Amino acid sequence: MKIPLDRQADTPIYLQIRDRIQHLIQTGHLAPNTQLPSIRTLAQTVNVNKLTVLEAYSVLEADGLVRAKQGAGFFINPPEQRAVGTVKNDAPKPFAAPLPPATFNPAQTVLIPTKGIHTFSNIYAASLQSHSEAETIDFGLGFPQPTGLEELQRIARRAMKEAHTFFHPGDPQGDLGLRSQVSQLLIQQGLEISPENLILTNGSMQSLSLLVENFVSPGDWVIVEAPTYHGFLSILQQRQAQIIGIPMTPKGMNLTLLAQYLESHRPRLIYTMSTLHNPTGITTQSAHRRQLLALAEEYDCLIIEDNAYEPLSFEITPPPIKAFDRSGQVIYVGTFSKTLMPGLRVGYLAVTSAAAQSLIERKLLHDFHISAASQAIIKEYLASGHYRRRLNQIRDRHRSCRDFMLSTLVQHLPPTVTWTVPNGGTFLWIQLPDGTCLDTVCSAAAEQKVLVGSGAAFFPKEQGYPALRLNFSLPHDATERGLKILGNILQQMENRGSKS
Ligand SMILES: Cc1ncc(COP(=O)(O)O)c(C=O)c1O
Repeated sequence: MKIPLDRQADTPIYLQIRDRIQHLIQTGHLAPNTQLPSIRTLAQTVNVNKLTVLEAYSVLEADGLVRAKQGAGFFINPPEQRAVGTVKNDAPKPFAAPLPPATFNPAQTVLIPTKGIHTFSNIYAASLQSHSEAETIDFGLGFPQPTGLEELQRIARRAMKEAHTFFHPGDPQGDLGLRSQVSQLLIQQGLEISPENLILTNGSMQSLSLLVENFVSPGDWVIVEAPTYHGFLSILQQRQAQIIGIPMTPKGMNLTLLAQYLESHRPRLIYTMSTLHNPTGITTQSAHRRQLLALAEEYDCLIIEDNAYEPLSFEITPPPIKAFDRSGQVIYVGTFSKTLMPGLRVGYLAVTSAAAQSLIERKLLHDFHISAASQAIIKEYLASGHYRRRLNQIRDRHRSCRDFMLSTLVQHLPPTVTWTVPNGGTFLWIQLPDGTCLDTVCSAAAEQKVLVGSGAAFFPKEQGYPALRLNFSLPHDATERGLKILGNILQQMENRGSKS
């Protein structure tokens, strides 16, 4: 459970924790008999002393809102007893081993394309093609490795017991039961979102399309991070929006430049990925999140916070920007594509403003509602209790893969190459020396059956510096072979002294 804390506020931290939990209990977000996270886990999650959490729990107990059970922890009382379920905190453990450092330090150039940008459909088509080719090492792919298939099949079979309901008309907002489950997951991320504030969508891609359709008119300015998720760039392009790419620093979007461009261009919205940004893997800290929100509020600019990779963080992350939003300025977008299966096509958006109604109407007109079968499978999966275990397994695997890729990069890539060190997700962002011809790198690698994500796709109008996005979740032997080949190509280009 994450709790947005204001360390500058006059209210002591233990009371802020008490207030938040009290609020979640009183608004029904934490159900009677739910177990609170252990004192140790919550202290780790919100980065405070264990005594502070103990103090907060003791006040809640004194207020009759929770009860302590010897050796088992604290539980929420049902209203009639002023004394309750099982919200186990599975906050990921911080990692211990020293890692090769992040060396990412890009030039801070704002990018404003004047003409069209690359087409996402070409990139998607290349990805489809690579799947049909055996022996290709595909670092370019953004999909998770297929794991836990037997369990998924068992759960899907159980979910089909609901098949008779697939003949009924569905709720355009999405199944209420599943929305309730998603809202419980979001509470663990620090978001106070009720089922009424959620719209289930065909993957987060549809959330992004609906939002752009709803809020952006042709010719409107939109701010994105540079680099950013290329799928969103294409949605903007199709909408004929004008794009401003504000450079990423190692700590997130450059806020000084953001302030300047909010003032000069008065954009309609800001698109940001605060946790495990795609493609750099950067996670911003609380202060950055609050500052970004304050700027958006000052200029009355909507924020889309797309945290597709949030559940895959190895470390405890601060609550999302949406957790600090009191005026409905932020719309939070999430997905099950990265944690369960992309093919189920289930994502969601959390919206707490009056815009919800028009978004639900749009959703109805697009496709009535998302697949009833997919909803039934995810509902069953979440109810089975396997989801937490699955997340832990994916995180453990990805952490080992990330560490392996980092050590292999040091071994095989020339020292002129720099990279980010993401604390989760799936990608590493590799910056190549200025002037390196990306097309040459990508096609030389492809000739040797190694596919890499060309960094150009992630910049408005492909204008950024030369970079590659690498999926680190491949098996170790594939990572080793692929990086050796990539390292040789880059070394040879450097030796020739010609970067192109
Ligand atoms: C940041 C981000 N947002 C949205 C999506 C779309 O995901 P989906 O539509 O499968 O939920 C992706 C997919 O890679 C992504 O990386």
